[in-house]
Amino acid sequence: MNNINITQMQISLEKSLVKNLMVQNHYERYRSMGDDIMKSIQDKTCPGNDFLGWVDLPSTLKTEQLDRINEVAGNLRKISDVVVVIGIGGSYLGARAVIESQKSTFNKDGCEVVYAGHHLSPGYLTELSKYLKDKKWSIIVISKSGTTTEPAIAFRYLRNELLARFGETALKERVVAITDKSKGALRKLADANDLQSFVIPDDVGGRFSVFTPVGLLPIAVAGFDVYKLIEGARKMEKQIWSDTNENIALDYAAIRNVLYQNGNTTEVLVNYHHKFHYVAEWWKQLFGESEGKDGKGVFPASVDLTTDLHSMGQYIQDGKRNLFETVVKFQNTNAVDESIGHDDENLDNLNYLEGKTMGFVNKNAMEGTMLAHNSGGVPNLMLKIQNDEIDNIGGLFYFFMITCAISGLMLQVNPFNQPGVEDYKRNMFALLQKPGFEGRYKELQILRKELNF
Ligand code: PA5
Repeated sequence: MNNINITQMQISLEKSLVKNLMVQNHYERYRSMGDDIMKSIQDKTCPGNDFLGWVDLPSTLKTEQLDRINEVAGNLRKISDVVVVIGIGGSYLGARAVIESQKSTFNKDGCEVVYAGHHLSPGYLTELSKYLKDKKWSIIVISKSGTTTEPAIAFRYLRNELLARFGETALKERVVAITDKSKGALRKLADANDLQSFVIPDDVGGRFSVFTPVGLLPIAVAGFDVYKLIEGARKMEKQIWSDTNENIALDYAAIRNVLYQNGNTTEVLVNYHHKFHYVAEWWKQLFGESEGKDGKGVFPASVDLTTDLHSMGQYIQDGKRNLFETVVKFQNTNAVDESIGHDDENLDNLNYLEGKTMGFVNKNAMEGTMLAHNSGGVPNLMLKIQNDEIDNIGGLFYFFMITCAISGLMLQVNPFNQPGVEDYKRNMFALLQKPGFEGRYKELQILRKELNF
């Protein structure tokens, strides 16, 4: 296997620290399934074929659709210091990942985006409402089903706060709902209150929805260029579908499956970039919810390095040998690369690094760590990305989504459903005594007695 490094590619895959730990003929077997799988996605004959609307979304999105998103975002930005994005799972992680990858870590100038409805922890909404007290603020509420409990509770709370603060006109001016075209409580609420709204296409599931208004509106509100994001995704879409022989998504999906068969059942996504944390959170949801079913699936984990070398490094180097790592490396970033200065006394013994940049130190930490982990029996893949600008982030998201679909199909699961998520909801509703769940409530009382729980 040679490394693929095509110049027009935004992403390349470096495999030299995997080969020695991978069974080659297994690779050929998975790789040879690739063309049929790609065809089944393209022809819409694969399992979950009613959820393939994201596959050609970048190339089919119309400029007018992006214009409308930008216009609504611009209006919200004019009247808001802060926009609260309410949503959970696929209805917020993509937007948050892109925004956090682009925004300044410390500077809060412009319109700030904060999040709600992504958990049920008491105290959060009170703290948020105190934070919003003297600010001008608005809401984007996102739920495809329109019935998810966490965002519904947050929306009820914040809607009342918004009405109390800005009066009756606030709902029309300061709320945008993104939901199904006709189904669900949020659609009913939006129509009844004449809210501004966007529709989530039927054939795009939550974790694949970053290129719909679900991701695009919050990203535009945060001040980032959605045209450029889509341009990057479009470029990657073209790349993936134009040359299947050198298709890095097929390659990455095949390697994941070989490693999984080898017993490397946990994939750790590794980054050395302080703005990548939420991309990894989005990635974990994408792969976890898509592949983890029918008793199968690579468990997706992530670490931020070098930070986590001081917490998880020991385990990765020396713990149970069921891991492989995928290291994400940005070839360039826009960051100012500070140099290490001189100190006459050299009490910290750092003069050997004088004149060297942080980027240089980071790169050597990365390479040293990859070699050490590989020697410790952890296969290390590397995804090289040109830079961390928004178009390349768009390309990276498309790449991960298509890889995830291919990889799930190689594993012979339906990557586009999430039947397991319903089980906790059923129990939660029963315990909360929601009408309609009386039978399950009784079953749970018996189970609790048996388990003494
Ligand atoms: O990817 C998915 O489908 C899920 O993570 C959903 O996005 C999440 O459960 C939220 O659902 P909804 O958008 O219906 O509120």
